[in-house]
Amino acid sequence: SRPLIIAIDGPAGAGKGTLARRLADYYHLPHLDTGLTYRAVAQMLLTKGWPLGDAPHAVEAAKLIDLGDLDRTVLSAHAVGEAASKVAVIAEVRKILVEKQREFARRPSGAVLDGRDIGTVVCPHATAKLYVTASAEVRARRRLAEIEANDGAGDFATILADIMRRDERDMGRADSPLRPAADAHLLDTSEMSIEAAFSEARTVIDGVL
Ligand code: C5P
Repeated sequence: SRPLIIAIDGPAGAGKGTLARRLADYYHLPHLDTGLTYRAVAQMLLTKGWPLGDAPHAVEAAKLIDLGDLDRTVLSAHAVGEAASKVAVIAEVRKILVEKQREFARRPSGAVLDGRDIGTVVCPHATAKLYVTASAEVRARRRLAEIEANDGAGDFATILADIMRRDERDMGRADSPLRPAADAHLLDTSEMSIEAAFSEARTVIDGVL
């Protein structure tokens, strides 16, 4: 049978990571959270004290990224995500990371990839494409609940402003802006449980198998 490639895109905090992991589990596919690759580049620059907008250094960092060695716990920090969206506007950085991501997707089984440009750029010929979204308010509320569940404290207005700024940067950049592929299935999870989103995604994917 041909490889099953599932492309999942959407803005920060829409729940695409959770959905991607569940689908990978269900269809027995390897999963790549491509956001981690941009985060790893940002983390490397932050560690070395190199400016985030400096293309030559960012390109050097991108070349060193090893997909087999991405540490989610280290890279999950809010500041790293923020920095990642700044290095993600550098076209040469994207070129290098996209090549690594395509390499990951190029296997007999197929794979689940989630990010911002999977259906549009990384895997335009994916078997199934999902664009997972939710209103900025809902995403901010979820993020706050997540922070509080981890015994942290957050401010709704600040979180909402962060989310809106990140959306603007990801949707407004010249290279590979966040947008649904023409053939993507839109999944608005604003008023949907994870279970319901998972179920709808399975229906979409099973429909094209
Ligand atoms: O999804 P995550 O929050 O980990 O992504 C961090 C940042 O990396 C995003 O805000 C985006 O700017 C960038 N990114 C991207 N293309 C991807 C995945 C992430 O530009 N495929």
